[in-house]
Amino acid sequence: MDVHDEEIEESSDNEVVNVSGEYSVTPWQVDGVVDYNKIVQDFGTRLITPEIIEKLKIISGNIHPLLSRGFFFSHRDFDTILDAYRNGDNFYLYTGRGPSGHVHMGHLMPWFFTKYLQDTFKSRLLFQITDDEKFLYSQHLSLQEVENYAYDNILDVIAMGFDPKLTRIIIDTKNIHALYPLYLEISKRLTFSTARAVFGFKPSSNIGMIGFPAIQAAPCFLPSLIEQKPTRVLIPAAIDQDPYWRITRDVAEKMGYYKPAQIHSKFVPSLEMNGKMSSSKPTSAIFTTDNPETIENKISGAYTGGQPSVGLQRILGGNPDACPVFWYLSHFFDDGKDSFERSLKCRTGNLLCGECKSDLTTQTKLFISKFTRRRDQARNKIGSFLYEDNPFD
Ligand code: TYM
Repeated sequence: MDVHDEEIEESSDNEVVNVSGEYSVTPWQVDGVVDYNKIVQDFGTRLITPEIIEKLKIISGNIHPLLSRGFFFSHRDFDTILDAYRNGDNFYLYTGRGPSGHVHMGHLMPWFFTKYLQDTFKSRLLFQITDDEKFLYSQHLSLQEVENYAYDNILDVIAMGFDPKLTRIIIDTKNIHALYPLYLEISKRLTFSTARAVFGFKPSSNIGMIGFPAIQAAPCFLPSLIEQKPTRVLIPAAIDQDPYWRITRDVAEKMGYYKPAQIHSKFVPSLEMNGKMSSSKPTSAIFTTDNPETIENKISGAYTGGQPSVGLQRILGGNPDACPVFWYLSHFFDDGKDSFERSLKCRTGNLLCGECKSDLTTQTKLFISKFTRRRDQARNKIGSFLYEDNPFD
């Protein structure tokens, strides 16, 4: 058994399907309160250390708050990517979206961070739209519905402000010819038993689902074909996508490519607190397509870390650590100082949940209205982002 096999073996013992009794994280569903220290052990990734952050700071001169505040918390080979960059070897970024519905604010987090990395390193970005995945894994979506969401979601991707010269969007059903040779090479090297152990496939799983992981793996190696030399790839995403990279890393060197590196984020919590923001529970999430009234209603109904009455809140104070409203304000809108002051006022009973909800509603409505304008402008730009045969010429 070589080291790559060990990597698979270690993780498949735990079956990604359920990492502990209290929570479960898969690429399709996250339930319960995730223990991020434990998931690093269970998935076999590494925590981002202050040394790595320092290394990035030396190269880039600035650290994105999502990193300094620990939202991006885990990685595989991010340090190797930075060392190679220092030696003159740039890398591609690769991330994506499965178009099963509208985009919510949780999805935007890895994309904000990807944009920061693209701006900092001037890296080329491949952005995969897995319309095939969402058709194969959904019980109710037709292929046409998924394709409609694909084009709708592409507006969100473009609205993020990625550099059109450096960014190409791959739509699986449209660009399959670019992925298919890689898909074949990858899938030939992966057994059903590995795929079952990592993804939890069952005898009733359709055969498209079983082959799909090799399609999500393919863009990890596409940069090497575009550049005509082995090319490093860094994937920013939440940690739910890690199972894909585990199997990809296992085959990479056997195919003559670098193992793709990852930087993993935590999950944006649900407004209702249990689990992550999820497209399947619309009241748990703010979507980029929500209108002002919907935003108001969702935030006014959100769970908070406050006490049951104003009187108790004044005496006992609230708990910002268990409050999605505070979480949103601190990760999307407040700067470090504002956030610290807000948490202090909350804990000491000098701030009521209604005030935080009102701040969050105002900020979110403003953010979404600006984002909506950028989405509208994106309609005229789609052509310059789509993947073509010579993508960066
Ligand atoms: P999808 O569409 O489920 O999610 C898109 C991106 O959003 C991240 N994400 C979240 N991040 C923070 N908080 C949340 N609540 C939250 N929910 C989702 C996901 O980790 C992902 O980064 N199969 C993929 C599409 C894909 C892809 C990729 C993703 C294809 N290639 C490469 C990342 C990297 C999917 O369905 O993602």
